[in-house]
Amino acid sequence: MSTAGAAQTPSLDFSSREAITPAQLREVGEQLQRFLLEYEFGLREVETKIEILRDEFSHMHDYNPIEHVSSRVKSPDSLREKVLRRGLAMDLPTIRREITDIAGIRVTCSFVTDAYRIFDLLTQQDDITIRRVSDYIADPKPNGYQSLHAIIEIPVFLSTGTVEVPVEVQLRTIAMDFWASTEHKIHYKYDGNVPSSLLAELKTAADSAAELDARMHRLHRELHGGGSSTER
Ligand code: GTP
Ligand code: MG
Repeated sequence: MSTAGAAQTPSLDFSSREAITPAQLREVGEQLQRFLLEYEFGLREVETKIEILRDEFSHMHDYNPIEHVSSRVKSPDSLREKVLRRGLAMDLPTIRREITDIAGIRVTCSFVTDAYRIFDLLTQQDDITIRRVSDYIADPKPNGYQSLHAIIEIPVFLSTGTVEVPVEVQLRTIAMDFWASTEHKIHYKYDGNVPSSLLAELKTAADSAAELDARMHRLHRELHGGGSSTER
């Protein structure tokens, strides 16, 4: 992303300051708002791309590969928490460089093949740059987490010029999404100290989710002519 104006960007870390004037506070607030707005715009661009893929796919193939889409821009609170957790400097150029999930979109698909298909159709577009891919479907996390993650960059055209905005895209099936939201709630409840019996049960549940996905995919192919030419 462009770093124009970075030199004037004030620090967001007030802990070391003796005092801050209301004018300085207003200035920082405005810069942060402007900063987050760029991510909001980048997210909107990616959302539109996903919507177009979904609508065109439904029109062409009479089939909808996307079950659900949700997106969010990180709140200032959770951004601050992540900067502190990672021990980064609390200033916008550092945050811009280091934190790549300020804008996030999650696409829940019917089948694993749909997740990969949407990933390909999105990332092959000319204006999208892939910065990083983590394929936790091919290579699940040790706890059982499965999803296809990518950090992509999309240009946003502003009155002040073009900025490349990173957006984290997560693609997963309904079963993987069900697992991830349950696991997230359990971690939240136990504040990270989940009993080992529960961790083992979560791992088993993740394996069951993967098995269900494979089963449903076989049934789906049966329904659509046993591996028809559309390969869905
Ligand atoms: P952060 O985890 O956000 O610091 O980024 P990272 O670089 O480690 O990326 P990673 O791909 O590991 O995770 C990014 C996001 O994926 C997280 O913020 C979660 O939304 C989701 N995620 C990753 N691992 C898990 C997991 O084990 N369980 C659940 N429920 N979600 C996960
Ligand atoms: Mg992580």
